[in-house]
Amino acid sequence: MIDWVNTDQFLVIGHRGVPSLKPENTLPSFELALNLGAAGIELDVHRVEDELVVIHDDLVDRTTNGRGPVNQFTLQDLQALDAGDGEKIPLLVEVLSVVQDQHLVNIELKGDRTGELLAEFLKVNRKYQGQVVVSSFKYDELYKFTVRCPDVKTAVLSTKLNQRSIRAAKSVHAFSMNLSDRGVKPVDIATLHEMGMRVMVYTVNNLNRASELRELKVFGLFTDAIQDLSRIQSL
Ligand code: G3P
Ligand code: CA
Repeated sequence: MIDWVNTDQFLVIGHRGVPSLKPENTLPSFELALNLGAAGIELDVHRVEDELVVIHDDLVDRTTNGRGPVNQFTLQDLQALDAGDGEKIPLLVEVLSVVQDQHLVNIELKGDRTGELLAEFLKVNRKYQGQVVVSSFKYDELYKFTVRCPDVKTAVLSTKLNQRSIRAAKSVHAFSMNLSDRGVKPVDIATLHEMGMRVMVYTVNNLNRASELRELKVFGLFTDAIQDLSRIQSL
């Protein structure tokens, strides 16, 4: 198990797996990201019938052959959908089964009532607690998670640094602030470092930009193109 708190490794994380090569948020996409040298993976969870399912949008329309809101499907009907290349929408537990101890897993809470359910899940499946970072734009869900699972790392997502995201980060004792590459400025990174927080950036697909961010002491980044960016970790 890697000591993610003290590591000085620059982390390149497969955003939804490797969506430039495999259908996003599917098992083959995550497996490929790790095989291509990702330090970890990022995924999005919704709640269906008290299970955590891995899909980005509120609707299944963009990424599957189905139509409609994720939370109006039965689990059985949801898992009968084709999420690309004949793959199904995986459960969180299925994705975790393909990662190894040395991989970081960033779980983004997308759907309603995912914070409590993920906390329950990680209390039962304690072995994953040290390698998981739980992030969200939904600060209420993140708060509900962290009060139930205070030892698991959290990250506040925001398109840019502002007072609201800083307040949220303080309230959940965030391990990291995860900012959009469109909104992040060097001064924001410095400000967060002065506050004792790590900074991660999404979504970065260009090697030169990744190098700039590493120079700015960003902790890591999320990329759709792990095949192009994973090598920066060993440069
Ligand atoms: O966690 C970074 C990134 O995944 C947040 O945005 O819309 O791709 O889930 P989105
Ligand atoms: Ca995400």
